[in-house]
Order: sequence, then structure tokens, then C-alpha cells
Amino acid sequence: MKIGIIGSGQVAQTIAPKMLELGNEVMISARDLSAEKKEDWGKLPSVNMWVAEISRKGFKASGGSFADAARFGEVIFNCTEGSHSMEALQAAGYDNLKGKILIDLANPLDFSGGPVPTLTVCNSISLSETLQNVFKETKIVKALNHLAAEIMTNPGVLEEDTVLFMAGNDAGAKTWVMDTVLKKWFGWKNVMDLGALSSARGMEMYLPLWATIYGLVKTPDFNIKLVMGKKSKASSAGRKAVKERSLVGTGHNNKRRQ
Ligand SMILES: NC(=O)c1ccc[n+]([C@@H]2O[C@H](COP(=O)([O-])OP(=O)(O)OC[C@H]3O[C@@H](n4cnc5c(N)ncnc54)[C@H](OP(=O)(O)O)[C@@H]3O)[C@@H](O)[C@H]2O)c1
Repeated sequence: MKIGIIGSGQVAQTIAPKMLELGNEVMISARDLSAEKKEDWGKLPSVNMWVAEISRKGFKASGGSFADAARFGEVIFNCTEGSHSMEALQAAGYDNLKGKILIDLANPLDFSGGPVPTLTVCNSISLSETLQNVFKETKIVKALNHLAAEIMTNPGVLEEDTVLFMAGNDAGAKTWVMDTVLKKWFGWKNVMDLGALSSARGMEMYLPLWATIYGLVKTPDFNIKLVMGKKSKASSAGRKAVKERSLVGTGHNNKRRQ
């Protein structure tokens, strides 16, 4: 399958080799194909350097503009800085993304105030929804945003099974992403579909907590595990009970509580 990756940072350079190992063709993308990426912890190769290196290993990889990658991909990953994802996808082009599944793992982070970020959009809307509102004919699935790049494609680096969240409005797209990309290709056993794309709000708003934990444990190798109460059953009845008791219940329930 042809995978188009919008972006060329740490996540793009982690997803791409995994996709290639699985037998896919991959195009990663940047505004300047010869620019090295400066990260806090060092440098990443430019797109041209990355393509040259991976091609020497015999993989079918290429580099291009955001529009090239969107045109190339049958499935697209949004691996851009969340505060600039709209510009990046606009450069990728509405028609090049039309009808395709876009896996959005970006977070709308603002680190200008320090190592624990604020969000450039939150509460009543998520980055994924702002993108979906513009790219109406693209099937956006939020996934993989709440853990470090190296865990995305290799959950086995964690000592126990943890939960991977996802959300989206297109049921068919979510089923394909869950079964093929997340479970079959990346090896996730426990994927929780949170429902409509509005659930991406919570997935993104978790990031300040993620950054605080990271500051304490000094490693990005961690993730969430859901542990149910002894009396709860992981049945639909159990989940309904949890939902009714939770703060994310309906407005009706919230009113009743007040
Ligand atoms: N790193 C992680 O472990 C991790 C984990 C979970 C989620 N995420 C999320 O995944 C996304 C990618 O993260 P990352 O660490 O790989 O890289 P990043 O540094 O957050 O983003 C890199 C990409 O964003 C693009 N970009 C930056 N400014 C832009 C602008 N003004 N216009 C258009 N494009 C712009 C860059 O384009 P150029 O290549 O042209 O410079 C580059 O390809 C982020 O949203 C991040 O929050 C990251």
C-alpha cells in the first residue's frame, strides 16, 4: 500500500521505517527537502538524507512536498506540529486528501510558557475537528497522539499491555485503522474507540499531564492502563454504569448532579 506522510520529524521518521518493513511504499514530506531537523535532543536527517539512507537498505521510500505526499498516499498520516497542521494540510491540498483516511496523531501544543504545554485549541474543539471541519471529504481518525513516537509502532517496549485511544466520525475508516494499522501492523492489543471525533478533545487535553509525568519519570516510555473496579464487568452493562457515573456523561446527567 502507498503511505503518504505529511511531515518529516521524529514521528514521521519512526512511522515510515515501520511501514516500509511491512512491505508498504512510503513518501515523507517537508517544506525544504534538504533541511536538517533541529530537535531539543539533537538533529534528525533531512528528507533527502533520510531517503538516501533508507533506500540503500533496499526499501521503496521517497520524499516530496506535502502535496506530493498527499497525492501519493492511499492512506495519509498527519505528522506535523499541531499548531501548524492546518497550514500543512492546506499546502497538501484539499483534492489530494479527498476521500482518503488521514490518521491524525498531531497535538496542538504551545511550549512558549515552559516544558508543560498549553493547547492552541481545546475544550469545545480539538485540532482534529478543526481539520475535519475544513477537510470535509477526508476521513480523519485520531490515534497514537498520546504516547511517545517509539511506542506508537512498538507497544512491546512497555512491560504491560496498555490502552491505545482512537476517535473519528467515519465508522468504516475507524474499523480499518483499528484492525489493520493499529492491531495488525503496529501490534496493539487493546485499542479503545472513544467514539466521535469530538473525543479527540480529551485525547489532546491529556498532553499537559503526559508532559508533567514525563518531567517526573524522565523517560517517554510510559502509557495508560485502564483498571476497572472489582464489581465492574467489561460488559456493555458495566460500561453503561461507568458512563452514567462519570463526569463525561450527558448534559442531562450533569444538570441532575448540580
Ligand atoms: N515526537 C513524539 O514522540 C510525538 C508523540 C505523539 C504525538 N506527537 C505529535 O506528532 C506531531 C509530529 O511530531 P514530531 O515530533 O515528529 O515533529 P514536530 O517537530 O512536532 O513537527 C514536525 C513537522 O511539522 C512541520 N511544520 C512545522 N512548522 C510548520 C509550518 N509553519 N508550516 C507547515 N509545517 C510545519 C515540519 O515541516 P518541515 O519538515 O517542513 O519543517 C515538520 O515536518 C506533533 O503534532 C506532535 O505533537 C509527537
